[in-house]
Amino acid sequence: MKTDRPVNINLLKMSWPLAALTSITHRVTGVILFVGVAFALYALNLALSSPEGFAQAVVLLAQPLPKFILFGLLLALIYHIVAGVKHLLLDFHYGDSLDAAQNGAVVVIVVTLILTAAIGALLW
Ligand code: HEM
Repeated sequence: MKTDRPVNINLLKMSWPLAALTSITHRVTGVILFVGVAFALYALNLALSSPEGFAQAVVLLAQPLPKFILFGLLLALIYHIVAGVKHLLLDFHYGDSLDAAQNGAVVVIVVTLILTAAIGALLW
């Protein structure tokens, strides 16, 4: 049977709208957060264990790699919350037209970059 319906679309070759990319990134940051909670709980447990543990946690998080991981987790959290709020607004049909979805995606990226820069400035 001959059909004009597109089949076997190559997802790597098609051009994705920004709203789709921000939505996928939201899911990816959710997975990053899920994994990163282990690191965050370890640092929190260490910091709350005793005054010495707190000092150890401060030293640990001042090291380049743990600090970078912390920064990455905060970036993922900020993005996830900002994009998550957009998703929740969509559930109430705010901003679910094509134009609004495009603008909303830009707002998510800009707000995330501003908040991440602020967090980065606090960390360094
Ligand atoms: C450590 C905390 C969090 C983790 C591990 C996490 C993880 C995830 C994951 C894995 C998904 C994707 C689920 C799927 O696509 O089937 C998701 C979706 C979602 N998250 Fe989070 N999340 C966290 C915090 C938050 C926060 C603070 C918000 C607040 C805005 C939020 C809002 C949402 C929303 C609205 C969705 C659904 C998006 C959709 O409809 O596609 N999440 N989360």
